[in-house]
Amino acid sequence: MRLANRIGKIKPSPTMAMAARARTLIERGIDVVNLGLGEPDFQTPETASKAGIDAIRSGYTKYTPPSGALELKEIILQKLKVDNGLDYDHNEIIVSCGAKHSLYNIAQVLFEKGDEVIIPAPYWVSYPDQVLLNDAIPVIVKTKEEDGFLMTPEQLKEAITPRTKGVIFNSPSNPTGATYTAKHFEAFSDLLLNTPLWIISDEIYEKFIYEGRSHTSIASLSPDLKKKTIVVNGVSKAYAMTGWRIGYAAGPKEIIRAMGTVQSQSTSNPTSISQKAAAAALKEGTPFIQTMIEEFGRRRQFMIKGLNRIPGIQCPSPAGSFYLFPNVQKILGKRHKGEEILGSVDLATFLLEEGGVTTIPGVAFGAEGYLRISYAAPEDILERGMKKIEQAIRLLT
Ligand SMILES: Cc1ncc(COP(=O)(O)O)c(C=O)c1O
Repeated sequence: MRLANRIGKIKPSPTMAMAARARTLIERGIDVVNLGLGEPDFQTPETASKAGIDAIRSGYTKYTPPSGALELKEIILQKLKVDNGLDYDHNEIIVSCGAKHSLYNIAQVLFEKGDEVIIPAPYWVSYPDQVLLNDAIPVIVKTKEEDGFLMTPEQLKEAITPRTKGVIFNSPSNPTGATYTAKHFEAFSDLLLNTPLWIISDEIYEKFIYEGRSHTSIASLSPDLKKKTIVVNGVSKAYAMTGWRIGYAAGPKEIIRAMGTVQSQSTSNPTSISQKAAAAALKEGTPFIQTMIEEFGRRRQFMIKGLNRIPGIQCPSPAGSFYLFPNVQKILGKRHKGEEILGSVDLATFLLEEGGVTTIPGVAFGAEGYLRISYAAPEDILERGMKKIEQAIRLLT
């Protein structure tokens, strides 16, 4: 069968591949602890679920405008103003089927053959593939652990060419938890303003910030930066609503209008029921977030301490998200039953098959020598997962 060329450029999500491997083991009756999760283990807040059920019961089950219902857009406008200090009009907002869908639509309307898009690594797995799907070129900038996995202005400068069309920031980051402060962003400002590129700012982990630190949207730094930025966010992570599929983007109206056209010719509107639920979450969900983040803060401390006690693992303390990105370079090169653990894929496979614990290899995020470990699971599970890692690593010689 001859499929379109573009399909050969992309691969299935590696995080999903690991989950599939784990499922096979579980089906065989093996006890597997999952530290690979990319979604909060909390239930969607009751207020959001109820709004969804009410939407069904009251017949709010028809098409909405393709770019989202006005009611939800108004709540998003309010959210961006209050939380991020950003003022937008209705025609500068689009609601999509998840933040991933917003990002996909941005790539569709901005990138084409020959364009280069700067992506700091470690990166979220979908960025390079979404760029490739549009025949553009991902330009990967490898950030360093000693820089807190933050891209430096010098690195950005070096990566910019006359073909650069965009740069993707993800703060707080999946997979590292690295979080840019206003000061970090200010250091990029002149460079970004003097280059004709678009800034895509994925802020989906905005609420997952610890130890009194706060989130800054790069768009809030100056009106000129705002004009060049498309902010992406959603309810998946902050309100434990991954399955409802609601995300949104805010940016210049020409870009938002074009994204709306793509949406109207592909998915039409995001689910009407989910839009009602998302509106309720954004309006009334602050206490839910506070409870969840307190719990995540405790787990984060517990995991950082625990992982750093395991021989060969060095785990930094990132400011945000619900992932840790420990350095496992000291473990690579060791052997199990004569087989050498060459890289993070071998290590994650070994930990799953011999240790019964799912982690995600760093190489999936463009960084060899690391694992991504999620703490989106209750503390007793996290404790069991860490014990399993420790026991498995002791088998290595
Ligand atoms: C960095 C990042 N951006 C976007 C998304 C997509 O979120 P959504 O569920 O809203 O599509 C994810 C989900 O894992 C993510 O980690």
